[in-house]
Amino acid sequence: MEHVAPKPAAASAVRAFLHEQENKELLRFLTCGSVDDGKSTLIGRLLYDTKLIFEDQLATLEKDSKKHGTTGDDIDFALLVDGLEAEREQGITIDVAYRFFATPKRKFIVADTPGHEQYTRNMATGASTADLAIVLIDARQGVLRQTRRHSFIASLLGIRHIVLAVNKIDLVGFDRAVFDRIVGDYRAFAKDLGFETLTPIPISARYGDNVTQRSGRMDWYTGPALLEHLETVPLASADVKKPFRFPVQYVNRPNLDFRGFAGTVASGTIAQGDTVVVAKSGKPSRVKRIVAQGGDLRTASEGQAVTIVLEDEIEVSRGNMLVAPDARPHVADQFTANIVWFDEHALLPGRSYLLRTETDQMNATVTELKHRIDINTFAHEAAKSLELNEVGVCNISTQSPVAFDTYADNRVTGAFILIDRITNATAGAGMILHPLRRASNVHWQALDVDKKARAELKHQKPAVLWFTGLSGSGKSTIANLLEKKLHANGRHTYILDGDNVRHGLNRDLGFTEEDRVENIRRVAEVARLMVDAGLLVLVSFISPFRAERRMARELMGEGEFVEVFVDTPFEECARRDPKGLYARALRGEIKNFTGVDSPYEAPEHADVHLETTGRSPEELTEALETWLRERGYI
Ligand code: ADX
Repeated sequence: MEHVAPKPAAASAVRAFLHEQENKELLRFLTCGSVDDGKSTLIGRLLYDTKLIFEDQLATLEKDSKKHGTTGDDIDFALLVDGLEAEREQGITIDVAYRFFATPKRKFIVADTPGHEQYTRNMATGASTADLAIVLIDARQGVLRQTRRHSFIASLLGIRHIVLAVNKIDLVGFDRAVFDRIVGDYRAFAKDLGFETLTPIPISARYGDNVTQRSGRMDWYTGPALLEHLETVPLASADVKKPFRFPVQYVNRPNLDFRGFAGTVASGTIAQGDTVVVAKSGKPSRVKRIVAQGGDLRTASEGQAVTIVLEDEIEVSRGNMLVAPDARPHVADQFTANIVWFDEHALLPGRSYLLRTETDQMNATVTELKHRIDINTFAHEAAKSLELNEVGVCNISTQSPVAFDTYADNRVTGAFILIDRITNATAGAGMILHPLRRASNVHWQALDVDKKARAELKHQKPAVLWFTGLSGSGKSTIANLLEKKLHANGRHTYILDGDNVRHGLNRDLGFTEEDRVENIRRVAEVARLMVDAGLLVLVSFISPFRAERRMARELMGEGEFVEVFVDTPFEECARRDPKGLYARALRGEIKNFTGVDSPYEAPEHADVHLETTGRSPEELTEALETWLRERGYI
């Protein structure tokens, strides 16, 4: 296509138009509701109808340009879209498609969350920056469980405005009584959710009633059409008085003369010459330059992507924050948070997850699930795990300190996600409630007699030999034989055996998934203390889950963890059945039995792989002993 440079008058008209677009207010919203409520039809209709409005406006502009005697057919529509595209980069925005549209009054970003299975997840990750949610209800169905769940999550996420779109109103004969009943039900449910506005609108997404234009088919409804409301609902303007927060995305160091910190201002404003402090270290410096795409700026505020250059050479790495010196964020490694869980695999206290904030990331565990929240009654219920789509309040402990605000104070720096470390799936979203004080009061006691000193006295290299395998695979038999040999050679050893530890320390635990996670967490911690004491520890637990074996490995120092896979096929274990447990489990008398109705995740990279079929325990023990000797463990 030939690209003709517009003549000056037209060019300035276009520029004015684009400028107007840029400066239009932006409303971010999302739609939620239950399956088949017409979400896609509604979005489709909004996009389609507003495009018509938009093109209409463009046509006028073109006409105007022509009137002014210029060729106005050169409007670069793409420019406009690009301007909006940049918005996409912000927030914890995973797996959510954003759609953009505009009307003469405002521009809009709608978080399009396809697929209903992963709906909660997309909603939680896409909604963190939304101002408004359209809660869609099928007029024939009324308020459903999912409606309540999504509305509750919307309130947790800090969404302030709700549009209650009672859809398919045509299918109930545009009946006012139906509409009023649904609105009444919803109001009763939502009264404590803290929404600023709740606007019910009867619509037919399919036929367009009350979507972009008021319908003539419901005389009894006197409120606005949906789009009208979206164009006029009051927006919170970026609060310039909020304390300055700048999560550092990366350190930009193209050459020795330049070192800047790149990121997006999460809140507040910064100006050249202002003092900032590094959140985690408390080190102060002054802002020397604020570099943006088009050149240096004097100030930058919420939402702007910039590179900040400081006066001093101080250490600031990715994940840290530059903040206002007089209003600092919390820095802690323990805090309490609301968690929305959306993985098929339940959240299990004690399991290690990857925790990611806007720019920081580290390992973390849920130390305590305080309660689960019933989304119908908002009652707090005792729970041992959080299942798919459940919401709860948890205490979290991170491997290293995080800088954060409470979610109520800041929706960017108060949010995080939890990632499953094995599947890499985003498994949950968190909104921080408050830091835990105990975090800063308990410090690891530095002792004079240390691990090295204790180990030297015993003339050995302390380590954990972690035996994993099915029940009856031969773990304890081999561990026992090995310990006898080590003991005979003057080694200081200890065996931690599943059956034995479950009689004492872990007497309170059964065989559910969450209990097994806790079982392994405790035994790994004990093994660590024993390694610290300078011992060779032989741990013999089924330890069926990769995640916990990995957690145990990470608790120990480099080279201190040796995973020994005692690989006996299920059929063989069931045939041997030393304790008669397989027979009972197969008859259904024992629940959650490993290999029967509870999984065993075989190691993928065990340090030592002992295939037991056709080999005697003595042979296997010798093979293991040789392995350990060759690597200097014994
Ligand atoms: S683990 O899965 O949590 O690591 P652990 O090694 O402590 O298990 O305990 C396993 C032992 O408990 C088995 O060897 C068996 O004697 C006994 N046991 C009782 N019920 C079960 C069960 N449902 N699944 C597996 N083992 C069981």
